[in-house]
Amino acid sequence: MSLFRPHPLRSTLSALFLGTIAGAAFAQAPAMSVGDLTIKHKIGQLQQSNTDAKTLAEIPEDLKAAIRASRVGSILNVGSPEVANELQRIAMTESEARIPLIFARDVIHGYRTIMPTPLGQAASWNAELVQAGARVAAVEASSMGIRWTFAPMIDISRDSRWGRITESFGEDPYLTSVMTVASVRGYQGDSLKDPTSIAATAKHFVGYGAAEGGRDYNVTYIPEPLLHNVYLPPFKAAVDAGVATIMTAFNELNGVPASAHDYAINTVLRGEFGFKGVIVSDWDSVLELVYHGYAEDKKQAALQALKAGMDIEMVSTTMQENLTALLDGGQVTEAELNAKVARILDLKHQLGLFEQPYTKGDPAKSILTPEHKKLSEELALESLVLLKNEKRTLPLAKNVKVALIGPLAHAAHDQLGSWVLDAKKQDSVTVLDAFRQAVGEDKLFYSQALYSSRSRDTKDFAQALEQANKADVIVFVGGEEAVLSGEAHSRADTRLPGAQEQLIRELKKTGKPLVVVVMAGRPLALNDVIDEMDALVMAWHPGTMGGPAIVRLLRGDAEPVGRLPVTWPKVTGQMPIYYNHPSSGRPASEGNFTQMDDFPLEAFQHSTGHKNHYIDIGFKPQFPFGYGLSYSSVQYSDIKLSKTAIGVDGELKVSAKITNTGSRPVTETAQLYIRDLVASSVRPVRELKSYQRLTLKPRESKRVTFTLRGEDLAYYNQKVEYVVEPGEFHVWIAPNAEEGLRADFIVR
Ligand code: BGC
Repeated sequence: MSLFRPHPLRSTLSALFLGTIAGAAFAQAPAMSVGDLTIKHKIGQLQQSNTDAKTLAEIPEDLKAAIRASRVGSILNVGSPEVANELQRIAMTESEARIPLIFARDVIHGYRTIMPTPLGQAASWNAELVQAGARVAAVEASSMGIRWTFAPMIDISRDSRWGRITESFGEDPYLTSVMTVASVRGYQGDSLKDPTSIAATAKHFVGYGAAEGGRDYNVTYIPEPLLHNVYLPPFKAAVDAGVATIMTAFNELNGVPASAHDYAINTVLRGEFGFKGVIVSDWDSVLELVYHGYAEDKKQAALQALKAGMDIEMVSTTMQENLTALLDGGQVTEAELNAKVARILDLKHQLGLFEQPYTKGDPAKSILTPEHKKLSEELALESLVLLKNEKRTLPLAKNVKVALIGPLAHAAHDQLGSWVLDAKKQDSVTVLDAFRQAVGEDKLFYSQALYSSRSRDTKDFAQALEQANKADVIVFVGGEEAVLSGEAHSRADTRLPGAQEQLIRELKKTGKPLVVVVMAGRPLALNDVIDEMDALVMAWHPGTMGGPAIVRLLRGDAEPVGRLPVTWPKVTGQMPIYYNHPSSGRPASEGNFTQMDDFPLEAFQHSTGHKNHYIDIGFKPQFPFGYGLSYSSVQYSDIKLSKTAIGVDGELKVSAKITNTGSRPVTETAQLYIRDLVASSVRPVRELKSYQRLTLKPRESKRVTFTLRGEDLAYYNQKVEYVVEPGEFHVWIAPNAEEGLRADFIVR
């Protein structure tokens, strides 16, 4: 478990020193193969160690000794290129086996130039930008000697109590798969040999995002067909995109810890998906087999993980300590060990580490460049989702006086979000900074109002209201600080924390239009205050350039294009909530829902309608998956099918006309959903199969056309067979998961 371990800050780089090291004529080991190694050295390749050392003096002696004895194959969290090069020097010139180390790090949504959190990036639905964002992260991280990132996290999550949903691409297998491919391509570039490329890791295999109750590290129960239909597709996409490594998860999946899950790893990942790369454990997750009560001791844990397909053990040392005995006892064969070592050496070859083990990067030229910041701003801008805009409150008129209120309006650290190990808050441009630039001090009235997003202290409310009263419009920026989401930061109550709801009510009482910008790691349950808001923008944690992106959007210098990658609940108790749920035998609809306040006294129980809903909150989310407004208005019309029947191998074209009926340009995300009406397993009421983003000038119309193939309709049935079942299907071209135009066709 990685929490609370100190994460190193990078020491300022001495380019001079690096130049010397990188250019020095250290003896380079010739390319190595498994046959050249002793058993001890092979076992060493399976060990990944951690060090936070930033300076040469901080390098622990026992780590140096382990490298000299070739008992370590890779290291995570090395604190500076100087330390990386020194450790590599020991490996290449003083160690027994002379095999280069790989340096790994959690570069999750940027290294120094921080992009929006992955959930925010998914809200852009813009794969090209997401790929470009990952490329920036790779260029920056590799310049510091990091050649392996533990990203992307592609766990599907249907429950935003789970703190790590912020690190995910949301709830949908298709959208997550698209984003997975984009980030793998971005990190790995055209070739891992390129010194600016870093190996990606698809994690956490598998089912980690289904933690029961949204509580991190909790048990997961996922029936096999569901595992195949929902949780595995992003991993298949990662494998097909050539992801170099995959990390196993902490969770126990249907009774077996994921890090020892023979079926998931050997049968599915290696067998069905044909994954040939390296499998790495999560932090201590092999040792935790003992804590799960699945292994009686470390030796058994090592054996279980090795047999289940583990190649590298992160931090814990059960394999290191026990593999010799396991080989001697015949429980593990040398051939099995060789296969693992071959994969690890192959990764090192692919990364070009045998030829160039040292980092030659020039961080000064690679980090926080104007292009990188620009990209961060564009990605932040496209991640913003306009959720509510009554009476066209937004965009703001150019010369209005703005009261900027709230705990996250000038939160340089918190706008960066979770899993930011290397950024500096001084690099962030906040909403306040950007407003100051845009409107000038005389038209800007700022109050933080609350010390933090969690604060319950209302002593500054009076000053905030005073500021609000001087302005024409109030922009409230609140939500969750970075630390309220992320690993082990699950919440049981996902409302705005602290006194923020109270503050919003007070601000509304001024009678001024109230724009709310939420920065948070997850959709927040806003049911109790949403009516107070005239406009609402979801900004996730938008990263380094979040401020300018938000201000451009609010002022109409840019158009809102983001769409929700996750269903937004009204209240926490609705979760898990997701649009692609199987059909109920008693589906709810507007017509048959009775709110509990409307029950007559002493009513018989049947008066509630016996439908699939809650009597207090109904059955709808606050906002559906795929939802997002623009500053214009868009109309979908004239859906057409090229045929109304296809064979299971056939294909048809579905098209619709999309018109910008407003007076501003629009980027619309047209979403293609299907429903299999009758099948041998109950099928989801809708499933996203494709989408297209199209830009329309005012009054412009375009026809959007999708090709739907028989294979797009396939799913895993109860026998876990991948089938297309003949019958009737619905297809929608839609602006979100609840609306859209429908057409019907038959599969013969
Ligand atoms: C997390 C992983 C992460 C690892 C290394 C673990 O606690 O679950 O996602 O890559 O730490 O920092």
